[in-house]
Parts: sequence; C-alpha cells; structure tokens
Amino acid sequence: MSGSGFQVWMGSIQERTEKALADLLPDAAIAPAHLHGAMRYAALGGGKRVRALLAHAAGELTGAAADSLDRVACAVELIHAYSLVHDDMPCMDDDVLRRGKPTVHVEYDEATALLTGDALQTLAFQILAERPLGPSAAEQLDMITLLARAAGSRGMAGGQALDLAAVGQQISREELEFMHLHKTGALIRASVLLGARCHAGRDDPMLEPLDRFGKLAGLLFQVVDDVLDAQSDTATLGKTAGKDADHDKPTYVSLLGLAEARALAESLLAEAQAALAPLGPSAGRLAELAAFIVHRKF
Ligand code: IPE
Ligand code: IPE
Ligand code: MG
Ligand code: MG
Ligand code: MG
Repeated sequence: MSGSGFQVWMGSIQERTEKALADLLPDAAIAPAHLHGAMRYAALGGGKRVRALLAHAAGELTGAAADSLDRVACAVELIHAYSLVHDDMPCMDDDVLRRGKPTVHVEYDEATALLTGDALQTLAFQILAERPLGPSAAEQLDMITLLARAAGSRGMAGGQALDLAAVGQQISREELEFMHLHKTGALIRASVLLGARCHAGRDDPMLEPLDRFGKLAGLLFQVVDDVLDAQSDTATLGKTAGKDADHDKPTYVSLLGLAEARALAESLLAEAQAALAPLGPSAGRLAELAAFIVHRKF
C-alpha cells in the first residue's frame, strides 16, 4: 500500500491539475459554445490524472518549477482525454460510459465527439508552445516534438490502429507488447520525460533511467487495464467492464489468463522500480506511483 504522504501528494496534484485544466480550456460560454462545452465535459471532473502525476513526479525530481509542470501535465492529460473521446466512438470501441458519465458522442453527437478530440489535441500543443517552457527555446522545441511523436502514428495513434486491426485475430506476445507500448505506453513514457525536461537539459543523465522507467510504467499500465477490464465491474471502473472479451480484442488476459497477467504486472512493477535505482531515494515518488498504477481499483 502507498503511504499517506503519497496519498496527500496525489490529491494535491490531482486538484491543481483540475484547476489548471479548467483555466486553460476555453470557457463554455465562448462561441462555439457547444464544442467548448463538450471539450470541458471530456477533460474535466474525472480521471485519475496518472499522466499528470507522472509528469509532476519526474519534474519534481529534476527540480522543475510547479507552474511549468502544470502546463506539461495539462498537455498530456488533454492528449489523453482526446484519445478517450475517439477510443469510445462507435467506429472504435463503441463505448457508452467513461469516467462514470455518458461518453461524449452519447452526451453530444458523433461529429461533436470527433471535433472535441481534434480540438483537445491541438490545445495540448498550443499549451506547450505559447509560453516559454523548459531550459531553452531549443529544448522547448524538443518537448513539443517529443509529444508529437508520442501521440502520432509511431506512437499512440499507431498503437490504436494496431488495436483495431487486431480485433478477432490471434497475435503473438511480441505483437501484443508492441501494440500496448504504443497505444498506451508512448504517452505515459512521454509524460515522464516531459515533466523531467521542464528543467533537465537534453543531455541530463537522469533522462536515461527515467525513460526506461516510463517505458515499463506505460506497458504495465495497459497490462493492468486489461486485467481490470476482465476482473472488475462497471460501477467500480466507471466504464463498461468485460468489453475486451465481448469485442474479441487480444489482451494480456486473453493471451496469458488472468493470474499470469496479474503476475506480469507485478514483475513489470519490480523492473520499473529497479530502473529508478540510479536516481536514488528522490525517485521514491515515481516508485510509489508505479505501485499505485498496478494496485489501483479503476
Ligand atoms: C484509460 O486510461 C485508457 C487507457 C489508456 C488504458 P486511464 O485509466 O488513465 O483513464 P482515466 O484518465 O483515469 O479516466
Ligand atoms: C485505450 O485502450 C488506449 C487509448 C485510448 C489510446 P482501451 O480501449 O483499452 O481503453 P479503455 O479500456 O477503453 O479505457
Ligand atoms: Mg481501445
Ligand atoms: Mg476502449
Ligand atoms: Mg481497456
């Protein structure tokens, strides 16, 4: 179990992320009010904010300023929120429930959901670009490029394409790992690096262990998502349970079984925590966060 200090820290980052997002998202009264309302509906009032937490934890480790970390935390949470809106659409996973509420295309309509995702994504890049961020302008360009790569066809969007192509197929363990590292892992890995790079320069020796940690944390995040889909219930998850099996999606549970998938998450946790060793005790927050990702209930 995570300590109470960690719980307090987590609550405070979740709260400041919610506030920062509420400030950065266009007011729902500004035209086009319908789209702005949908963007706020998709991005506010829910979610564990794991990507924001990772950015803050990695940034605190490198000595980054909290207001810079708020900006990268919002950018990664907005990319994530966009990915959920599109992931839930009828042409993808066709889900009606997200974060305990009707999905955006259900609450609004499909065209609004499409545009909401588009606009959340571009807002993320606007937030990274519109004010100085990171140690220098050149480093800020690196950060923007890093997020673009993580979200694009060689990252999250590519992973989502593989996920859709894999429906009803038997895929190998290597293919499943590749898919998970991309559809979910890439943005989680980028969240860690972007937090760090708010202060650390591109040659900072902390980046290598942080990148190794981020890659493992991203993979284990999706292994646990697969496990929760199979073993939990809709009320606890705030999204429809059991839908991977219903939609005939290859997952770590379908490939390995529930017990082995859970065991894999624990061994990836140990690996992720071991990757932090070169960073010493100040990486404790990231280690606790990885444990939270594995032991979460939703
Ligand atoms: C769910 O992500 C979608 C995946 C990438 C597996 P989260 O479990 O982080 O969703 P929220 O943000 O807490 O709702
Ligand atoms: C979602 O994976 C990955 C992205 C949104 C990029 P899932 O389809 O498993 O996520 P949930 O289970 O719907 O949250
Ligand atoms: Mg999906
Ligand atoms: Mg889905
Ligand atoms: Mg899932």
